Amino acid sequence: MKTSYPLRECLGRIAAEIAEAAQRPRREAELMLMEHLGCDQLWLITHPDAPVECDGRLQSWIRRRKAYEPLEYIFNKVSFYSQTFFVEPGALIPRPETELLIDRVLEQVPADSEMTLCEAGVGSGAVSVILAQRLPGAKIIGVDISKPALRVARKNIDAFGLSERIELRHSDLLEAVREPLDVLVSNPPYVARDAPLEPPLDYEPDLALFGGVKGMDVIERLIGTVEQKCIPLFVCEMGYDQREAVKRRVDGTAFDLEFYKDLAGLDRGFIMRYKG
Ligand SMILES: C[S@@+](CC[C@H](N)C(=O)[O-])C[C@H]1O[C@@H](n2cnc3c(N)ncnc32)[C@H](O)[C@@H]1O
Repeated sequence: MKTSYPLRECLGRIAAEIAEAAQRPRREAELMLMEHLGCDQLWLITHPDAPVECDGRLQSWIRRRKAYEPLEYIFNKVSFYSQTFFVEPGALIPRPETELLIDRVLEQVPADSEMTLCEAGVGSGAVSVILAQRLPGAKIIGVDISKPALRVARKNIDAFGLSERIELRHSDLLEAVREPLDVLVSNPPYVARDAPLEPPLDYEPDLALFGGVKGMDVIERLIGTVEQKCIPLFVCEMGYDQREAVKRRVDGTAFDLEFYKDLAGLDRGFIMRYKG
């Protein structure tokens, strides 16, 4: 069987093979070829007739993608907030909407002020890394209940040279955090237990996705902790349909509540601020 094709033809063949699994097959085929050839987009566009060897590695990538495995796990990398992070199964692939969580935090706190900030459910560490870069006066504590996720976070934090700034702790929410906090940030698991999942989510850890019967378990526990510890500022991502449940839980507490939307105009998170 022939295994070498002109680049243009190879691109079309890959796009056709992965069409069912990929939302943007052509774009993903380009990404695969860039990774395969070690080239950039410009080279790809300007060398349509270059011969491409469709070797075992490229074929295995195509097989895995056809089985709906996310490209980020296949290449062990993800682009988030314009930076590249290591990722592997065991840690959630950071999503574009979580960049908004970071923006909301950065709007709430002066960039150079000293503060202790905790991220509950640190996952790959991407959120904490960006916050550490943008908030030079912040000491950051990242907690996670998942040891595989903490290993991924460790790798990213070390790669960005931030191990002095971000401390990782294996902890069920804030159990292992005794010191007073100025800010709590979280993108908790908030998917309802019986929600039908799109195939790529099957590859991601349940612990990172599911938040109990209605998806509210971890969010409610976090709100309880914020109240109990009187944390002045809590910024949290949530599901598009959880606004009412969050409002019911926060109403009557000593905190102001504000919601924010994602780029599709859907409710995506909330900010709790201590009134006192
Ligand atoms: C939706 S992921 C977010 C990961 C990362 N912060 C991000 O935004 O990409 C939720 C994370 O919370 C962690 N987690 C779930 N339950 C937890 C708990 N009870 N205590 C601490 N971490 C928890 C999961 O292991 C997972 O890493």
